[in-house]
Amino acid sequence: MTGSKLIVDKALRAATHLGSSKLSSELLAKSSTAWLSSAAAGGVAKLPDLPYDYNALEPAISAETMTLHHSKHHNTYVTNLNVAMEKLDAAVTAGDASAIIGLQGALKFNGGGHINHTLFWENLGPTSSTPSGSLAAAIDESFGSFDAMKSELSAKTIAIQGSGWGWLGVNTATGRLEVATCANQDPLKATTGLVPLVGIDVWEHAYYVDYRNVRPDYVQKIFDIINWNVAGERLDAAK
Ligand SMILES: [Fe+2]
Repeated sequence: MTGSKLIVDKALRAATHLGSSKLSSELLAKSSTAWLSSAAAGGVAKLPDLPYDYNALEPAISAETMTLHHSKHHNTYVTNLNVAMEKLDAAVTAGDASAIIGLQGALKFNGGGHINHTLFWENLGPTSSTPSGSLAAAIDESFGSFDAMKSELSAKTIAIQGSGWGWLGVNTATGRLEVATCANQDPLKATTGLVPLVGIDVWEHAYYVDYRNVRPDYVQKIFDIINWNVAGERLDAAK
């Protein structure tokens, strides 16, 4: 593994907690496949397969949106991340500190886009679910109720100026869940230290086909397709 591959491998594992033995074999298999399959392709990152069909999230998110979002938008982040990683390899090999620093923006944007979308596909699903176990208890303890958490996550996500992501994450120092927002493709853990449990993409490419400019309707509807079982597994893995 090259130095740059190791850097992103660690970053993705930190973001998704793939390294935890507590993560379910099902989630680990899905995420690991997404990541490890890149080696066979000769690149650093590879577009992961969705764990469901493009039309599986209808009517909340249309097949058209899912197709464009996954096969075009996410794929572009993967392509450009690999370009940046190749340049980083060359810069590291040459010991060119200026070139390494100059790549940070592209690495953050495209690496963040890859990490965020990989998390996003997994924290959505066609089967309705509700928080249970330790996740349900943590939501009650941190917010008072599920509805209070939903209200705060929705409001702050809708209020993001421009493009970005709303997140429910866990502060591993306090054990409490927190709502946070990130601009652009800034990844949650690297930006705030919170471990991501649920992400909501509010770039217009995520909802414009289905909801036009009405972001609040999209955010409201996405709660119908959040996979709270995955969120619970992420919380347990973060402990
Ligand atoms: Fe997106």
